[in-house]
Amino acid sequence: MLKIVNLHASVGDKEILKGVNLTVEDGQTLALLGPNGHGKSTLLSVIMGHPNFTVTEGSIEFNGIDLLSLPVDQRSKAGLFLGMQYPSEIPGVNSADFYKAALNVRRDKPMSLFTFYNKLQTAYKEMGIPFEMSNRNLNEGFSGGEKKRNEILQMRLLEPSTILLDEIDSGLDVDAMQVVAKAINEEKAAGKTFLIVSHYARLYDMVTPTHTAVMVNGRIVVEGGPDLYKRIDTEGYEWIKRELGVNLEKEDGPMNKVSIGVCATKEAFKK
Ligand SMILES: Nc1ncnc2c1ncn2[C@@H]1O[C@H](COP(=O)(O)OP(=O)(O)O)[C@@H](O)[C@H]1O
Ligand SMILES: [Mg+2]
Repeated sequence: MLKIVNLHASVGDKEILKGVNLTVEDGQTLALLGPNGHGKSTLLSVIMGHPNFTVTEGSIEFNGIDLLSLPVDQRSKAGLFLGMQYPSEIPGVNSADFYKAALNVRRDKPMSLFTFYNKLQTAYKEMGIPFEMSNRNLNEGFSGGEKKRNEILQMRLLEPSTILLDEIDSGLDVDAMQVVAKAINEEKAAGKTFLIVSHYARLYDMVTPTHTAVMVNGRIVVEGGPDLYKRIDTEGYEWIKRELGVNLEKEDGPMNKVSIGVCATKEAFKK
């Protein structure tokens, strides 16, 4: 179980998460929606332990462990996985080497090469990705859709228990969507827990969420069943303002200049 209580998180001096309360029980599939720029990706990054965000208040409990006390690698070993909205290109790191290292670090003894290649080959086949791509540097020069499929391939290989997917459907054509949805459904059938961010009912209809939550201005403003994502798909977010009195305008002013890719030393010199 993933239990988030009164979570506040900032980047620089800008507060993005402003008191998130959200619980995802084992085996649930939660659809997380919300207008752009209101903190969905930030929430997923904070759960996984992205160092750019500072948690200033609140807690995240994962299967009884205080998640915020763990570094990112231990969160991964504890069973968490994040399929990123914008997967990074890692020049110089061969994909197969990366997967081998990621798998072996979770084991007492390294996997035999034979077992590893069998596993890898099966995963590539299931995802409909040519096996030659395992020889290329991780995500380097991959198309948007190839990067997203690759995230799901990693999910399959690492066998996490709780899976966070951030707009995994963006950049995917219809065929790739079906491959991804099939992989998600197989994991669901095996009892895995999902938190899935998307703007589109198309993906949700394929993976049938058990719950829906909506994030506005860094807070969860409404929760419900699958009917909630369907309503948002047909009506948008305006009714949330009308019926629940929630302000949909972004509370913060112009964007903070600090970004994830910024060089901290250069910024310090400017000051
Ligand atoms: N590294 C960062 N530096 C400054 N602002 C950021 C950074 N990361 C995210 N933000 C801001 O935080 C807000 C929430 O972003 P995000 O979590 O990506 O929203 P969503 O995923 O809901 O579209 C946005 O205003 C975004 O510009
Ligand atoms: Mg996002």
